[in-house]
Amino acid sequence: MILGLETSCDETAAAVVTPDGRILSNVVSSQADLHARYGGVVPEVASRRHLELVTPVVQEALAEANLTLDDVDLVGVTAGPGLIGALLVGVAAAKAIAWARRLPLAAVDHLHGHIASLYLEPDPVEPPFLCLLASGGHTLLLDVQDHNSKARVLGATLDDAAGEAFDKGARLLGLGYPGGAEIDRIARAGDPSAYEFPVARVPGLDFSFSGLKTALLYSVRELSEKELESRRPDLAASFQRAIVRALAERTRQAAGQTGATTIAVVGGVAANSELRAALTEATAAPLALCTDNAAMIASAARFSNPVPYPGYLGLDAYASSA
Ligand code: KG4
Ligand code: ZN
Repeated sequence: MILGLETSCDETAAAVVTPDGRILSNVVSSQADLHARYGGVVPEVASRRHLELVTPVVQEALAEANLTLDDVDLVGVTAGPGLIGALLVGVAAAKAIAWARRLPLAAVDHLHGHIASLYLEPDPVEPPFLCLLASGGHTLLLDVQDHNSKARVLGATLDDAAGEAFDKGARLLGLGYPGGAEIDRIARAGDPSAYEFPVARVPGLDFSFSGLKTALLYSVRELSEKELESRRPDLAASFQRAIVRALAERTRQAAGQTGATTIAVVGGVAANSELRAALTEATAAPLALCTDNAAMIASAARFSNPVPYPGYLGLDAYASSA
């Protein structure tokens, strides 16, 4: 059995996955409420909370799977990229568990984890495929050739990530944090053609979302508190439409250029209902596996080269991939 741990941002997560990719448990303890009043994740607060939650979350993942640590053969943990203090909690916990049991440890890249959310049962996606990875920290078009090696980057955001744009937009609209799911919900009651928000056209297969955010800011500024109240669904729907259009257009363009026949969408923004509906030709990761979780980390661990006991004691976390 593979025990996965994920603590790169504000979700403390542990999961148990079988060697053939079945999820036995997938426990995610979100700290969103804790950070909501600050309008975003406070790194130091996140690290401290991870420290409190990591042991009970691992225990719960094992209990839900009806297993004990005796059944675990491999530990997989997110080593980066993410908040360094948050990552260190997961890495230290994973090392301690693996070392105590003389188990091998797989250091998983968070982005590889998001891609590996597609490799789980019951409907795994098989490489090669074109992958749109859209999360709070990244927006990437990737050429995925196999389960393990680093995917080739075809396009990336030049400024904000798509999830970041959703979160910043939500903030401008006076919605809670994290904002993507809130915009998704409120947009259902709105008219997506009420506002003409620009979809930035940058060369190649890259993305840009900062202009869109500014356009929303100007529209919001023109409204009184009361007007904003009534126009909020229209603003949310139009803003969401612009982001989804940009993502869908670029993904189709990339598929055209690479000739990819399989297209997949992963990451927190892949949970967006309009994006899922717009990219009908794509396979989106299962809803529960879009936002950060540890099942995807255990899934990636299946295809990585684990470090045998005790070679991983010096393993370090990294904040960014570069
Ligand atoms: O993958 P993820 O959980 O964390 C990172 O690796 O960044 O992605 C979180 C992002 C947040 O920006 C959140 O607002 C966005 O995913 N998100 C959504 C939806 N659910 C989460 N964005 C749009 N629509 C959603 N339904
Ligand atoms: Zn993520």
